[in-house]
Amino acid sequence: MVVIKYKHETLLKFRHVVLLFLFIFITGSVQSVAQSKILAPVPPMGWMTWNQFGPDISEDLIKEMADALVNSGMAGAGYKYIIIDDLWQGKRDKNGILQPDQSKFPNGMKALADYVHSKGLKLGIYSDAADRTCGGTIASYGHEKTDARVFAEWGIDYLKYDYCNAPADKDSAMVRYKRMADAIHKTGREMIFAICEWGRRQPWEWGASVGGQLWRTTWDIRDTWQSNKYDSGHAGIYNVLQRQAGLEKYSGPGKWNDPDMLVVGLNGKGKSSSHGGANGCSLEEYRSQMSMWCMINAPLIASNDIRTMSEEIKAILTNKEAIAINQDILGKQAARIYQSGGFEFWVKPLADGSLALGILNRDNKEAETSFQLKEIGLKGKQMVRDLWLHEGMGFFTNAISIKVPGHGVRLLKFTSVK
Ligand code: GLA
Repeated sequence: MVVIKYKHETLLKFRHVVLLFLFIFITGSVQSVAQSKILAPVPPMGWMTWNQFGPDISEDLIKEMADALVNSGMAGAGYKYIIIDDLWQGKRDKNGILQPDQSKFPNGMKALADYVHSKGLKLGIYSDAADRTCGGTIASYGHEKTDARVFAEWGIDYLKYDYCNAPADKDSAMVRYKRMADAIHKTGREMIFAICEWGRRQPWEWGASVGGQLWRTTWDIRDTWQSNKYDSGHAGIYNVLQRQAGLEKYSGPGKWNDPDMLVVGLNGKGKSSSHGGANGCSLEEYRSQMSMWCMINAPLIASNDIRTMSEEIKAILTNKEAIAINQDILGKQAARIYQSGGFEFWVKPLADGSLALGILNRDNKEAETSFQLKEIGLKGKQMVRDLWLHEGMGFFTNAISIKVPGHGVRLLKFTSVK
């Protein structure tokens, strides 16, 4: 009997241990599934204050822009994040809580976030990994936990985190970005974390590992096709684009290279975007930026005045067929696979097995190019669609000849047919 009782108790203990392990395993997996949910599975889309308005931002402006995003059809096309850039900040109160500038945001950020959310949109904000931001206002270094908590309480969905006034070395940058990413993570709120150190320390190599969903790859983009020099005050669309070739292997769902905002529709009237003599682009050049930003999985962040944009600019920003390339769930960034004369061939594989091709003409005059389908990695009969004309171009098996406007891009989709 004694022996039997002993066996029974051991069995009971054993069952408890098994149950305990089972519990740990199940809760562990639930947790890891929750943690592994990808934030930003496709590139974020939205609108940001900086290029057009610089310091001239306010609660009224953000509300008007939220209304305009919805009424113009931009929100319907996917533009959901309204991001308040630098110069929203006031002071820290006696408890260290960062307050918005009362004269710009008299009702506070929570009320503004509620308004933006009521429109089905999301709200982003800006800070910096140092004591002061690029614009010289109060930043988050040393206050990461409080600031992340307060941003979460306000209902912020996206944080652009800049790097002015911070140490130059990569290790410090990684530590500072991780501190803020961890602080955001602890709040439990889903908040996209956008690293902005201008590609100086190759953030594509470490941005995801420190908790970023995207990272700027270049200096601030200006409202011009191309600058003669490339530095913190000069970077046109083409200067920025050139620097994206080769970065494709770092991009994918939840981890995006960010070549900065769309300058489409600024027409030389933006504040910071007009720096260095940048005085706007032609419609063709704006269309090219849209085409190529879609191809390279860039976050599509418009920065023009949505309230007053022309129909042509709206048509560029809301081209659903181009946006579908950007938002394709496979998340493969286009690679520049081939250059010939003044033409560049960029290809992006898509989730349905088809292929998007962007042919860019670097020259400022229209020109014709011919290429073999095998040069872009295709075999067999292809159905070709023009994503700006919104029509089929027919079926091709070997070669294609095509005209491309000066500084223009032909955006095509190839689908194999039997
Ligand atoms: C830096 C960033 C810009 C903008 C400004 C704000 O220059 O790169 O995108 O956020 O700061 O001061």
